[in-house]
Amino acid sequence: MAKPAHRFVCNACGAVTPKWAGRCETCGEWNCITEEVVEARPGPAGKAATGRRVNFVGLAGSAAPPPRNVTGIAELDRVLGGGLVPASAVLVGGDPGIGKSTLLLQAAASLASAGKRVLYISGEESIEQVRMRARRLGLADSPMELAAAINLRDITATLEHEANATLVVIDSIQTMWMDSIESAPGTVSQVRACSFELIRMAKQRGFAVVLVGHVTKEGAIAGPRVLEHMVDAVLYFEGDRGHQFRILRGVKNRFGATDEIGVFEMTDVGLAEVPNPSALFLAERRGNISGSAVFAGLEGTRPVLVEVQALLAPNAGGSPRRSVIGWDSGRLSMLLAVLETRCGLRLAATDVWLNIAGGLRVSEPAADLAVAAAIASAATDQPTSAECVYFGEVGLSGEVRQVAQAEARLKEAAKLGFGRAVLPRRVARGNRAPAPPEGLQLAEIGHLSDLVTLFTGKPTQE
Ligand code: TYD
Ligand code: MG
Repeated sequence: MAKPAHRFVCNACGAVTPKWAGRCETCGEWNCITEEVVEARPGPAGKAATGRRVNFVGLAGSAAPPPRNVTGIAELDRVLGGGLVPASAVLVGGDPGIGKSTLLLQAAASLASAGKRVLYISGEESIEQVRMRARRLGLADSPMELAAAINLRDITATLEHEANATLVVIDSIQTMWMDSIESAPGTVSQVRACSFELIRMAKQRGFAVVLVGHVTKEGAIAGPRVLEHMVDAVLYFEGDRGHQFRILRGVKNRFGATDEIGVFEMTDVGLAEVPNPSALFLAERRGNISGSAVFAGLEGTRPVLVEVQALLAPNAGGSPRRSVIGWDSGRLSMLLAVLETRCGLRLAATDVWLNIAGGLRVSEPAADLAVAAAIASAATDQPTSAECVYFGEVGLSGEVRQVAQAEARLKEAAKLGFGRAVLPRRVARGNRAPAPPEGLQLAEIGHLSDLVTLFTGKPTQE
């Protein structure tokens, strides 16, 4: 019999090396490389190692959209693309304590109450702990079935006999353990082998499996990218622990659009859905304060209005501080440079703090104009109009560029009672740009200095 081969795997990024090292060359992490045994898989005994012919077919053919099992939690269903697809695997990642178990318990209970068979396997918490949470959430009467187990052999042996389960929740994949693999639970080889087995079972038995995965401090699910490509959908549950709301973000979905978000609020009776996030993010906004501007953003297909806050203070000497929460700091430096060189705002000796209120993380370049408005407002001590929204991308020469879905953003702003929008010049489609929503006045600008003029009142020279 062939000697089992050994190889070394990085637990942070999944890279494989033939030799052990103290530091992973791929991701630079220290002390993360562990040894694993590669099982040699001999082909079927006695048969020549030839494969069977694969048949090719054309692209046209009848493919019905996959059936869906609606969980009943609308925000989750939307991110999933309309509900859980049978025989699929979903990874739900997030920081410890963010609310993954709470969300899945609520979804499982809701699905079970709708008459579906739901199995919840907890590897982290005891039965009593899960029951306690269910009582607190008011879900104790739900007919879902609960088990505490970590041994994958036991779990697969059990699932082998389950013919009619709709959903199986594994909380969490990092606690699962396969006895044929030497390494500890949570390592790449365990996580990969356990997931592979569970996903194979899901495809074979026709249930949807949801794997819960904790995210390491670097933002990767431990035993990470290996898992992302194995599953059909990857959802991240994120949010600031200091804030009440949580965002479920789809980053991969084989059955729907990615970049959808679901917004929840963590209350003392579990996660509540937030159907109108803009109202939540703007709830504590005060009008007529300098350094604040409302950004009409887009999260997935959904327009979301958030407040951008900037605070400027004279620098006490040394290099000025630039501190950003919820936005990209490289982008802030760029905007400051553009404001300084192209629009004549003096910011080089100023400390700048920028914050996206409410704890949301904005990654769109379209936020440039709102950030610039907040900074220009703070620099000139002129409040932005309380009923004005901003969006637009800014280029290095100060030009303001088009962004996607301007109409959707304007509609959301009008819906929430905003009366004015500052945006890039719209390119006419056909022979004219679509009319703005009723009650909304548009200020289309072509250059960032036009925005600064709104605050200083006098034209700036480049
Ligand atoms: P949990 O779902 O256990 O997080 P995860 O599975 O992602 O580790 O969430 C735990 C946190 O949520 C905990 O800090 C308490 C808080 N929480 C509430 O605020 N309200 C509730 O109703 C519940 C169940 C939890
Ligand atoms: Mg948990």
